Amino acid sequence: MPSLTVRQLDEKLKQRLRLRAAKHGRSVEDEVRTILRAAAADTDSFVRDEPSHDPALAHDRPASSKRVLLVIGGGIAAYKSLDLIRRLRERGLVVRVVMTKAAQQFVTPLAAGALSGERAFTELFDPASEFDVGHIRLARECDLVVVAPATADLMAKMANGLASDLATAVLLATDKRILLAPAMNPRMWAHKATRRNLAQLVADGVAIVGPNAGEMAENNEAGLGRMAEPLEIADAAGALLAGATGALKGRRVVVTSGPTHEPIDPVRYIANRSSGKQGHAIAAAAAAAGAQVTLVSGPVNLPDPPGVCVVRVESARDMQAAVEAALPADVAVFVAAVADWRTASVSGEKIKKGGARAPTLALTENPDILASVAQRKARRPKLVIGFAAETEKVVEHAKAKLARKGCDWIVANDVSAESGVMGGDDNAVHLVTAAGVESWPAQSKDAVAAALVARIAEAVAGDGR
Ligand code: C5P
Repeated sequence: MPSLTVRQLDEKLKQRLRLRAAKHGRSVEDEVRTILRAAAADTDSFVRDEPSHDPALAHDRPASSKRVLLVIGGGIAAYKSLDLIRRLRERGLVVRVVMTKAAQQFVTPLAAGALSGERAFTELFDPASEFDVGHIRLARECDLVVVAPATADLMAKMANGLASDLATAVLLATDKRILLAPAMNPRMWAHKATRRNLAQLVADGVAIVGPNAGEMAENNEAGLGRMAEPLEIADAAGALLAGATGALKGRRVVVTSGPTHEPIDPVRYIANRSSGKQGHAIAAAAAAAGAQVTLVSGPVNLPDPPGVCVVRVESARDMQAAVEAALPADVAVFVAAVADWRTASVSGEKIKKGGARAPTLALTENPDILASVAQRKARRPKLVIGFAAETEKVVEHAKAKLARKGCDWIVANDVSAESGVMGGDDNAVHLVTAAGVESWPAQSKDAVAAALVARIAEAVAGDGR
């Protein structure tokens, strides 16, 4: 058995060992013994000083040892992030925690470290952590970065590429997908600056979960801004990790879903019966296949699909702006039942009854979002798919629509009252392409979504239309 003394090691290695030993409160000798024991037992790679950097190995690792870097931002919702650590670990994920300075006002690194099983990292310019792990390794030695709570300040810094502390430096240095769980006061969430930052982050491929509507920590405040629940965040993280090897890995997909609401006055609007079930199912299936999905949704009563960035809109014109902001994309699927018309003008006050005559609504045509994207010259997605909801001559109308809109495929379905498709859970569709018509059997909307996503993956794999 060869003998080796610490003194024989090179200076750099000795220095690192000294730092590790000091950090763990051991002698250098004991530290070396611990490292060797761990290496011999082939324990968790986090214990090893030099884990593999081979990205291929990351994919081969079983899901049970996937690693999440959790960045805790400074908001009251940080207390829920402690529960999130447990929820992630319950799924067999290894969790490493980075905390901002503000986060430490709400929860302690000790608590986060105790729950994650490893000390929480807090400092960018801490020689011990920089030698031991360093912000670049923190950023790379994970499969997913989750930011929870993502405060308005953190989002603003991320959108602008700031790297002024450990958390933001890690977020700028990472080459892994990032999932944000925003949490802030509803006015901060609705502020134009936060909207701009969110749009930028979505365009950068960041996934978002929440925020939810509800009571705020502040007295008498309620609205959109509560951090998603730990279980929802863990589900979204799981979906993103599962999709990391899927058939649409690395592809960007935009989906529109639901109805649009076209305002008449402050309290009334024109709407339709679309539930959003089919569009949401397609967004979920694309995310499960590994795509970066932006779902632009009109008002619906459905939970956000896990691992999908949801942009909520009301009117057709809002939907068009959100779709434009989400481009470029590889694939765009237009499932929304966009109102064909809106009122020519919106009354600033509630229109009163009791006049001599009933009011007349003058209508004007809405932009055709599908046609405008399908016919664009620059940044056209490789595959543009429209839906055709018809009540008669379904395939005939769908073929005409394919040509008129300039899209690549039309998914046509019968929405006559007797079909039960509108608001129902099942759908029977025809896939109309330049190559012909395929009529799929009646199946659940989830199954239609899965089949369509499989076809999309085939088409973009060969970059065919
Ligand atoms: O013309 P029609 O409404 O039947 O077309 C349906 C298809 O076009 C759907 O894919 C729908 O999402 C899309 N569409 C759109 N913008 C509109 C109208 C329809 O994107 N203003």
